[in-house]
Amino acid sequence: MSAGTARAGAGSTRAALGPALVTGGGRGIGRGIATSLARRGAAVTIADIDLEAARSVATSISDEGLSAHGVHLDVTDVDEVRRVVAGADAAVPLDTVVCNAGVAFSRPTTEVEPEEFDRLMAVNVRGVFFVLQAGLRAMLPRGRGSIVTVASTSSFTASTSPMAAYDASKAAVRMITAATAREVARSGVRVNAVAPGTVDTDLVRALGGLATGEQLEALAGAKIPMGRLGLAEEIGAAVCFLASDEASYVTGHTLAVDGGWLA
Ligand SMILES: NC(=O)c1ccc[n+]([C@@H]2O[C@H](COP(=O)([O-])OP(=O)(O)OC[C@H]3O[C@@H](n4cnc5c(N)ncnc54)[C@H](O)[C@@H]3O)[C@@H](O)[C@H]2O)c1
Repeated sequence: MSAGTARAGAGSTRAALGPALVTGGGRGIGRGIATSLARRGAAVTIADIDLEAARSVATSISDEGLSAHGVHLDVTDVDEVRRVVAGADAAVPLDTVVCNAGVAFSRPTTEVEPEEFDRLMAVNVRGVFFVLQAGLRAMLPRGRGSIVTVASTSSFTASTSPMAAYDASKAAVRMITAATAREVARSGVRVNAVAPGTVDTDLVRALGGLATGEQLEALAGAKIPMGRLGLAEEIGAAVCFLASDEASYVTGHTLAVDGGWLA
C-alpha cells in the first residue's frame, strides 16, 4: 500500500492522506486543492511565487484546525524547486506532490511574442517537469507516493479562444504525466493528471476580460453541458482521489473534471 494507509482519518472513515506539497496553492484551483487535501488529513505545504498568498491560504486552513504552511517557490527556478521540495520532504516525507502552478494568455498566434511564449512554457511545462522530477527523486527511494499534475481540457481539444501556446503546454503536461507514469510504473509511485474544465479563478477572468462572476456564469451556462462553472474544491476532490490508495491501480491517467465539456 502507499500514501497514507496507516494514518487515522480526520473525521472521515477513509484513510487520511499523508503530507503533500501543492505548487501555485496561493489562490484559485491550487487553493482548492490544498484545502481539500488538508481536509482529508494531509499536512500541506503551499508553495507559491506569491508568498503572502501562500501564507494566507495556510492560515485559513490552519484556522480549521488543519495543518498547512506557506513557502515561496518560483517553479521556473530549478534550484529553488529542488531546495523547496527536498526541504519539505526532509521535514515530513511527502506522499503527494501536486504540480498545479500555471499561467495563461489568449492572443492570436500571429501576435504572440517569443518572450511571452517562453515565459508560459517555463512555468507550465518546464516548471511542471522539474517539480515532478523533484517529487520523484524524493519518493522513488521509498517506493511509494503520488504525483498529480494539473493539465486542462485543452490537453485534449483546442480552447475556444486563441490560446495555441497554452493548449500546447497543457498537451505537454498530459504527455509528461503519461510518459513518466509508464517509466516508473513498477516503483510504487503513481503519476496522474487532472484536467479541469472552466473554473472561476483569476486566470480565467483575466483571459476573458470578464468583470463579474455573473458574466462568466452566463457564458459557462451557454457552453458547458452541466450548465455551470467548476469549483476549485471539485478539482481538489479529484486530486484527493488520485493521491489516495483508492486510486492504487490508476497511473498515467488524465482525469477530466469538466462538467461534460469533453463528452
Ligand atoms: N481556471 C481554469 O478554468 C483552469 C482550467 C484548466 C486548467 N487550469 C490550470 O489550473 C492551474 C491553476 O490555475 P488557476 O485558474 O487557479 O490560476 P490562478 O492564476 O488563479 O492561480 C495560479 C497560482 O499559481 C501561482 N503561480 C504563478 N506562477 C508561478 C510560478 N512561476 N511559481 C509558483 N507559483 C506560480 C500564482 O501566484 C497563483 O497563486 C493552472 O495550471 C491552470 O493552467 C485552470
